[in-house]
Amino acid sequence: MNNKLPLTPLYSGKVRDLYRLSDKEILMVASDRISAFDYILPTPVPDKGKILTRLSVFWFHKLEKIIPNHLLLSDFDSFPANLQPFREYLDGRSLIVKKVKKIKIEAVVRGYLAGSGWKEYQAKRTVCGIPLPAGLEMASQLPEPLFTPATKEEAGSHDRNVTFAEAEQIVGPETARRLKEKSIALYQAAAEYALQKGVIIADTKFEFGFDDQGEIILIDEIFTPDSSRFWEKEKYCPGQEPDSLDKQCVRNYLLGIKWDKNPPVPGLPAEVVANTREKYQQIYEILTGKK
Ligand SMILES: Nc1ncnc2c1ncn2[C@@H]1O[C@H](COP(=O)(O)OP(=O)(O)O)[C@@H](O)[C@H]1O
Ligand SMILES: [Mg+2]
Repeated sequence: MNNKLPLTPLYSGKVRDLYRLSDKEILMVASDRISAFDYILPTPVPDKGKILTRLSVFWFHKLEKIIPNHLLLSDFDSFPANLQPFREYLDGRSLIVKKVKKIKIEAVVRGYLAGSGWKEYQAKRTVCGIPLPAGLEMASQLPEPLFTPATKEEAGSHDRNVTFAEAEQIVGPETARRLKEKSIALYQAAAEYALQKGVIIADTKFEFGFDDQGEIILIDEIFTPDSSRFWEKEKYCPGQEPDSLDKQCVRNYLLGIKWDKNPPVPGLPAEVVANTREKYQQIYEILTGKK
């Protein structure tokens, strides 16, 4: 958090810091912090927050016909006058967004088998309790995209997958149904677009909230390398775990030094930081067509 800002801090997450702007508005600042295995690493990745912010804005505009989102302002020049002295800190990495009442479900959509989905499939031939055909491999495309909600757990522990029935109990059946419908529609639209650019969106996570009219809107970040698994179409080969176009090199480094995934969290060598920065930049350029 930046305690020189003339705003009340609301929340500091793994990546973003939130400040109160008014009863209805939040300033959301994406830092250069990077997390792996649910821990924030002590080494930042320069410009990562700017890349995530720009990529989210790109998708928010592209997908707003499917569902409205929380974005109000992204151009720093149009931010309130009392924030203008903080250009250095805020420009490019901050958004003014609608404050919502958060819906307490992580809306995950999976188009391909990976991560915890692949583990569950191997053990029970299901993903989040949904039965699947036999014979799928690591990274196989699923017969159709699946909505596999999770609950957000305390910092440091993994999110917990829940069945759709549990999600209905947590948020109510009508909200659960809407989240599922909108999540799948968002995934399908983005996955189709990305595929034309040579990128497979294996899975992704959304967050939603109720705005002051009681409408469900999309919040947080969307289709960024922090919230999605991106694979290169060219290198895709079911049966083999594809390298994801994001923090794979960070994870590989941490696995390589045999970190036991308990604090203290190790820092990253300069070349891993540079490599990661390049990956984030690369995926941004591929998806948006912009430098
Ligand atoms: N429009 C919004 N209103 C309220 N909270 C939001 C909004 N958009 C995002 N958030 C919350 O802000 C936080 C974003 O910071 P992040 O670093 O991603 O946190 P986390 O470590 O919890 O994932 C998340 O907790 C997210 O739910
Ligand atoms: Mg987050």
